[in-house]
Amino acid sequence: MIGKSVIKIGGSLLFTKDKELDIIKIQEFCQIFKKIEYSGTHVIVCGGGRIARVYIDAVRSFHGNEALCDTFGIDLSQINSKLLISSFQDFAYPLVPKTMEELSLALLFGKIIVMGGLQPGQSTTSVALEVTEFIQAEELVILTDVEGIYDKDPKKFNDAKLLKSLTYAELQDIIINSSGDKQAAAGEYRIFDAVSLQILKRSKIKIRVMSGKDLKEFEKFWRGEEDITCTVISD
Ligand code: UTP
Repeated sequence: MIGKSVIKIGGSLLFTKDKELDIIKIQEFCQIFKKIEYSGTHVIVCGGGRIARVYIDAVRSFHGNEALCDTFGIDLSQINSKLLISSFQDFAYPLVPKTMEELSLALLFGKIIVMGGLQPGQSTTSVALEVTEFIQAEELVILTDVEGIYDKDPKKFNDAKLLKSLTYAELQDIIINSSGDKQAAAGEYRIFDAVSLQILKRSKIKIRVMSGKDLKEFEKFWRGEEDITCTVISD
């Protein structure tokens, strides 16, 4: 079993198509951790999802600046984390770490840790990379609403192809080609933002991006299986 891992769960995965909290999905996700005997250090970083975007849009309509909008995204990602902790019950550390110092303290308890955003100007993917670097985890798993990274937007193009592996340089090209003006706005940081790319380059972290909509692939990963549908990003 994996010694140290960091898992980023996109906030959108916590909600149903009808914009309701997906309670069954949240329980299913936590169950994967509960039912397998494990030891080691596991940190889950949870995103803000739709609910964060609703608040960010409201603040923007009041002419709030992007940094203020980001603080709403951070707060909502921490609320989502608190919700996951309540589903984990005794399996999780009861507080959401809000700084790396608080994370250091939480690590002493040997339980699953769930946390959200840290500071404005980045996404929770950057937080996940910062945490992976900080705890020296073997790899980072990013659970998103598609099966990995594609050569073009799979939500817009039917012929988009899943990329099985990517180097950091290839990932950078994809990010640069796909980012529009809004890429660095609150609530708009895509799977990888500029900060995450910088941390990736200096830390040489291995990442697997896989579906969190259908948790089958993640279960396989958790059981230590190798044949997983995902995109592997490495140096
Ligand atoms: P994310 O955009 O990372 O959430 O954080 P998400 O729901 O996981 O995104 P998807 O589903 O993967 O696309 C929500 C917002 O919170 C702010 C940003 O505005 C971000 O868009 N945030 C988050 C920060 O400002 N700093 C952080 O450290 C994390």
